[in-house]
Formats: sequence, C-alpha cells, structure tokens
Amino acid sequence: MSDSNDLVKSGERKIQWAASHMPVVSALEKQFASQRPLEGASVSCCLHLEAKTAYMAYVLHKGGAQVALCGSNPLTTQDDVAYALHERGVTVNARYGIDDEEYYRNLNKTLDIGPSVIIDDGGDLAHLVHTERDDLLPSVQGLCEETTTGVIRLRAMEREGSLKFPAFAVNNAKCKYLFDNRYGTGQSTLDGIMRTTNLIIAGKVFVVAGYGWCGRGIAMRAKGLGANVVVTEVDPIKAIEAHMDGFRVMTMDEAARIGDIFVTATGCNKVIRQRHFTTMKDGAILANAGHFNVEVDVVGLEQLAEEQRFSRKDIMSYRIGDAWLHLLGEGRLVNLACADGHPAEIMDMSFALQLLCATHILGHHLEPRVYGVPQDIDERVARMRLSASSISIDELDEEQCAYLSSWRHGT
Ligand code: ADE
Repeated sequence: MSDSNDLVKSGERKIQWAASHMPVVSALEKQFASQRPLEGASVSCCLHLEAKTAYMAYVLHKGGAQVALCGSNPLTTQDDVAYALHERGVTVNARYGIDDEEYYRNLNKTLDIGPSVIIDDGGDLAHLVHTERDDLLPSVQGLCEETTTGVIRLRAMEREGSLKFPAFAVNNAKCKYLFDNRYGTGQSTLDGIMRTTNLIIAGKVFVVAGYGWCGRGIAMRAKGLGANVVVTEVDPIKAIEAHMDGFRVMTMDEAARIGDIFVTATGCNKVIRQRHFTTMKDGAILANAGHFNVEVDVVGLEQLAEEQRFSRKDIMSYRIGDAWLHLLGEGRLVNLACADGHPAEIMDMSFALQLLCATHILGHHLEPRVYGVPQDIDERVARMRLSASSISIDELDEEQCAYLSSWRHGT
C-alpha cells in the first residue's frame, strides 16, 4: 500500500512528464503567472483527472483563480495525480472507483466555491447548476465544454430556452476536434484495448460503431495496425465517407456475427444490445470510446449472461451459450478507464483552448447561448503549436490578399 507521500511523488512525476510535452500550455503558464488574468475568479472543473488535466488546472490556479475540480467519470481519476494536484493548491474532490452517490457529492462540493467559470467534460456541472444548484446561476459568467456529448446537451438546453449563461463549445474548435477527437481518440482507444487485453490487433475484424471524428480516428489507427475494419453508421453521408475511406460498412446486426473487437463511438445508447450479444463469436471483445457507459448495453449483457467471471484487470467476461464475451473497463471510456487518455501533445491544444476561453469569458458579457470558440483563439493555439514544433508556414502578401478578396478576375 502506498502512503500519501508516495502517491504525491508518483502523481507529481506524471504531471511533470505531461507538462514537459505540453509546450502551448507551458507558454500560457508563464503568461498566466505574470499577468494573472484569472485573479479573483473561481473556476469549477469537472474533468477526467489525469496528468494533463492536472497541469491545466494548475495553470488556472497560477493565473489567479481559486480552482476546484472533480472527476467526470467514476473510473478515470488517477489517485496519485489527485494527491499531487491537491499539493499544488487545487481543491480536488475526486477518487478512482467511486459510486454514484460519491460522484454526485463531488460535483456538488466542486460547485460549492461559487464558480464564475465552469469547465465541464460531458455536461454534468452544467446540468447540476441548472437544476438542484440554480442558486449559483447569478455568479456564473460562462462555461467551457470539452466534449461532443456535453455540447449536444448544451444545445438541447439552448433550444428549450433553459440555458442561463454563455457556453463555449470548446469541442467544436478546429484545434480540438481535428486533433483530439480524431488522432487523440484514435491512439488512446487502441492503447486502452492493447494494454488491457495484451492481444494482437492485426488480422482481427475490428468493428467501429460511429464514423464521427472519433470513429474516423479509431478506424484509421486500427487499419494502421493491420485490422480488417468494419464501420457501422446511421448517417448515410458518414456511411459513404467510411465506404470511400476503404472500410466495409454494414449494420450492427451483420457486424455482430463477424467482429472480433467492437468499439462504440456514437454518443448514443444501446448501440450494441442483447440481440447483438446473442450472435457474437466466442472471444469477442467489447469496448466503448463514447462519453457515457450506455453505448454497450451492459445491463442487457448482465441479464443475458449465464455465467460471469473477472478475467484480467479491467476485463469482465460473460458467457452466453458457448460464447464468452469480454467487456473492457465496464463499458466506460476505454481510453481513460483502461489507459491514460489522449497523448500529451494533443491535450496541449485542447487545454490551451480551455485556458484561453476561460479568460475570454471573464472579459466579456455575453447572452446565454452556445458559442463557438473565437477564430482568433483557435488560430493562436495552432500558431503556438506550430512554433513549438519549429514549423514555419507561408504568409499571403498584399497582392495575394487583394486577389483572394476580389471577384473581378477570371480566365
Ligand atoms: N485527458 C483529459 N481529458 C481527456 C479527454 N476528455 N479525453 C481524453 N483524454 C483526456
């Protein structure tokens, strides 16, 4: 058993490793420490608490904010990182493996600081502050949302007229979804599956449900590792895209019979359900990369199972007839529940956007609506990222600008 000093040391090493691969957030750390743009602000965060997240929360703190943080999923907090972040001056209400009651207690404690800004991943703080904690609404100046699922929930609130403060869809910034959702989810999902199973990907029939940015990234990386990739979709346009990207496209009913590994990345519930489980091959592996643990119908799986056993860390196996099906990480986000989340260089851009949007909120009085990240913030992050990689790009000269802004030219 580690004592808390060992946990702090281990968490601190992880944070320092991540920080040393996050040049954009590191540059912002220096700027925030000298300019203190968040002086006097209170920031409540609900995020997957691993090393990169801890570093971002620490930079908020260095920028002058009082910061409280809870986990955005019961299985994605790394306890050593939580201890280390607490030592760095952030209030941490998070622990690995908590039940629903503690999860909601932690959300509430995180709101107790009376936030002026909220940083959410999945919409749980937004939901709570619009329902049971609506007494806090007057002091909230705005929110930043990290993920697709959270943006979908915010848009539903906006449509209904229930949204009470401005909310920035950080997920929808180009420097977020083009890299985090695609390359981040692609790599970290495969990482989670490979670490957990220690099995080969090459030669397997690898079924990806959903061909949004996350699904595209997962399919691309599975193909790169030699899998025979199948995509399932409900959107006809995304389905053609997957087809033209070279993947087999079929229904989940068809895919269920032939798949060796299944990964859901749809944002929807019951994508793989009882009628699919009953036709799956012995040894099929089930994993989810979507925000909530509803994409694989785990309750339905448990009901069908004639026998259940714990096979390996983070693998629960269920027997249906002669077939054993193996579920990774309880059907929760496999890249975080069974690995360390996206690579540091990816979270560098996502969290730089969060830091700049949090600052932007404090400088503006906006109507309660869902906003895109301002283009100048998106481009600033891209330029900082390029500069960190010593990549220079061309610039338009005056003549070219004039050409591009005129319609009076032709053949
Ligand atoms: N690390 C921290 N937050 C994350 C997220 N939303 N997805 C992947 N890795 C993360």
